Amino acid sequence: MSAEVERESIEATVEQENLALKEYRNFLPSKIKKDIWSSKFLLFVENLSVSFDGFKAVDIPHFGIKHGELRVIIGPNGAGKTTFCDLVSGKTPPSTGKVYYDGKNITQMDESDIALMGIGRKFQTPTVFDSLSTYENLLLALPGNQDWQDNLLKRESEQEKNQILEILEKVNLSECRDMPAKSLSHGQRQWLAISALIISKPKLLLVDEPAAGLTDLETERTADLLMELAEDHTLVVIEHDMDFVRRLGQKVTVLNEGRVLAEGSLEEMETNEEVMEAYLGR
Ligand SMILES: Nc1ncnc2c1ncn2[C@@H]1O[C@H](COP(=O)(O)OP(=O)(O)O)[C@@H](O)[C@H]1O
Ligand SMILES: [Mg+2]
Repeated sequence: MSAEVERESIEATVEQENLALKEYRNFLPSKIKKDIWSSKFLLFVENLSVSFDGFKAVDIPHFGIKHGELRVIIGPNGAGKTTFCDLVSGKTPPSTGKVYYDGKNITQMDESDIALMGIGRKFQTPTVFDSLSTYENLLLALPGNQDWQDNLLKRESEQEKNQILEILEKVNLSECRDMPAKSLSHGQRQWLAISALIISKPKLLLVDEPAAGLTDLETERTADLLMELAEDHTLVVIEHDMDFVRRLGQKVTVLNEGRVLAEGSLEEMETNEEVMEAYLGR
């Protein structure tokens, strides 16, 4: 390739990216009225970074999620996807920058307060209580019921019971309601973890690698479940499995080395040289 042609193609790539990412770049919640930014984005981060021993695991100047979106974040291992969730959910304090959520600057808030504000998080390894039944796991997940010794003695209200049964139905676990969680399949455990998350009706769900280790059928069901949840929640889904991402069919953000590399449809990302290099270069 001649230098001329090469430069043109690089410029074309940058131009393409500018379009997709420009909207974030021009948006500065710290500089504009709260009402204006909060009506546009549910979550927005500005100059967000975190360093571990001098290594920047996340370094994102501007990035946001709109109300009601189902956004997929992909990226190679170590790209900073889980760390991004840690920063948003208050698990890890950032080294620099701000996290704005639902009209508030939540940067300095602690993890439990952020959860109470409606950010729900499913970790890569689902947190489920093995010795408790499926039903009891959800009983425990009810807001205000985290003190589990109290809770298992307390009788749930009729309304709470119906709420649990409704969720079990939604995630296809009705038949398993009295089974101990340890006898569930890996996929069923993922669905139980997701159920425990949605029972407190969070506005924003951060779902980290929901398809990891699932069978093909479980993967399909999980994608369908997330799409159903997207009707009532804003979702950020982090995923590696491309078939799964394809099934979701949503806008994809690519993280690489802690930065937002590109954004668009999965098809656009698959023809983006930089993105492909990031994936294949490891
Ligand atoms: N608490 C931590 N201490 C030190 N390094 C960390 C910590 N958390 C994450 N990292 C590093 O940050 C980088 C991004 O990790 P992670 O967010 O888990 O990536 P991903 O989820 O995209 O695979 C990795 O290099 C990881 O080793
Ligand atoms: Mg991860």
